[in-house]
Amino acid sequence: MDQGDRDWWRNGIFYQIYPRSFGDSDGDGVGDLRGIIARLPYLTRLGVDAVWLSPIFPSPMADFGYDISDYTGIDPLFGTMEDFDDLVAAAHDAGLKLILDLVPNHTSDQHPWFTEAKSSRENPKRDWYIWRDPAPDGGVPNNWLSEFGGSAWAYDEASSQYYYHAFLAQQPDLNWRNRDVRQAIYDVMRFWLAKGVDGFRVDVIWHLIKDADFRDNPPNPHYREGRPPHEKILTQYSTDQPEVHAVITEMRHVTEEFDNRVLIGEVYLPLHRLVAYYGNDLSGAQMPFNFALLSTLWSARSVETIIADYEKALPSGAWPNWVLGNHDRPRVASRVGPAQAPVAAMLLLTLRGTPTLYYGDEIGMRQVPIAPDQVRDPFERNVPGIGVGRDGCRTPMQWSAEPNAGFSSARPWLPLAHDFARDNVASLEADGASILNLYKAMIALRRGLPQLVHGSYEPVAAQGDVLLYRRRSAEGVAVVALNFGAQPATITSSAIGFSNEVLLSTLMDRQGEKIEGALDLRANEGVILGPHQED
Ligand code: NOJ
Ligand code: MG
Repeated sequence: MDQGDRDWWRNGIFYQIYPRSFGDSDGDGVGDLRGIIARLPYLTRLGVDAVWLSPIFPSPMADFGYDISDYTGIDPLFGTMEDFDDLVAAAHDAGLKLILDLVPNHTSDQHPWFTEAKSSRENPKRDWYIWRDPAPDGGVPNNWLSEFGGSAWAYDEASSQYYYHAFLAQQPDLNWRNRDVRQAIYDVMRFWLAKGVDGFRVDVIWHLIKDADFRDNPPNPHYREGRPPHEKILTQYSTDQPEVHAVITEMRHVTEEFDNRVLIGEVYLPLHRLVAYYGNDLSGAQMPFNFALLSTLWSARSVETIIADYEKALPSGAWPNWVLGNHDRPRVASRVGPAQAPVAAMLLLTLRGTPTLYYGDEIGMRQVPIAPDQVRDPFERNVPGIGVGRDGCRTPMQWSAEPNAGFSSARPWLPLAHDFARDNVASLEADGASILNLYKAMIALRRGLPQLVHGSYEPVAAQGDVLLYRRRSAEGVAVVALNFGAQPATITSSAIGFSNEVLLSTLMDRQGEKIEGALDLRANEGVILGPHQED
């Protein structure tokens, strides 16, 4: 990719790496930076454009790196700063952009800022975190809950105050109303941007500002038994406060001190709230992550509705994006089933907007069952037994049929899928019709068909299990037909036009087939059509 291209984040495909699980170079069972460098040629073969790394900074690992104790270092588990500099250079040499995870909402309780803040009420850093007196009865200051179970308030005996933590007690929230906190994190951003990173994915960006009066949150009337306990109350006062947007604009300005950088926001909110994160006059994040596909019912009509709602909610000029998997949600192949995983992939790579892939989804990795004594995720440890555990989507990348799947010379930190000897990069690269080769073919097709990248999205009416749309630009038109069902389906010629040609099928066996009239889709088949060219 042209490094000077201002539109790179619009045109490109993003790929999320969970560094603990991608490649282990030093044989300690945990992935590391040299392990990633060694696998860059794979990413080039796959054809992605940008890589986002989950946190690699020094951390006690209470939440596997989302609890940072030094924002401008590299955790020895992952390597050294020299390794990081080599990774930036190697990625750029390979034409790949590199995105880091910025975790500004909270630090580790081991961060020197928190140690200072905790040392006394008078410490200059006290106000960098969120401290409140106990309620009159001595209890917690309000009813806010931690996403990882229990109250969001932890008591500090020494100073007789509570501090707020939206996640673990080992992850105290920073006070983003404090200007010094803002400046400190902006300097962290500058540190990495100056090293050449191409942007940030900002952790829980909608959490940064809390209600100034710390009012109680209202109960959630739709709470369902079996859901995590923090869902019993809504987060009306603890997240998504209007003042957050001014903060994000400041962050955006920091990225704009450098050329062609991108700000991606992690935002779990309904679509109509999500789009506020583009900011007034698009002064916010360029890509507030759109997670709608992570929780939808997998049916043609639900997905069609989501696309329509999202397209409609987007502010003018805002660029869309789509996500099918990440390190917090069950694997897509398990959510939709292995037969639909290729259809989901074709959807992701043909919708209007930047796609973000999650490592391993391109080889169809499924949720790996985690035995009770293998659980590492603090969420599952605190709230056991209802299926919130995130370990199953964070297991080592399956590279080959060799011991430990070619991921490591040692036993990996999380178990491997039992069938890795069958489903791995080496075996799937050799199998012409594999999901991996489908991903490669779709990515290559996107590159050759600009209408799939910047063309308009035009829904076409369809029924039952079929989702149908067109992508159109000055360069041409492409039709995407996806069968979400396990029965064959027929699409009439009036819906797709009379003379088409199959550019790609998820079953990889009908490229070049002329479609004169109706299109027959097999069970679980997706196809991309283009106008038939007479030769
Ligand atoms: C969102 C991250 O994606 C998740 O993994 C983490 O546990 C929380 N933020 C807390 O940082
Ligand atoms: Mg290692």
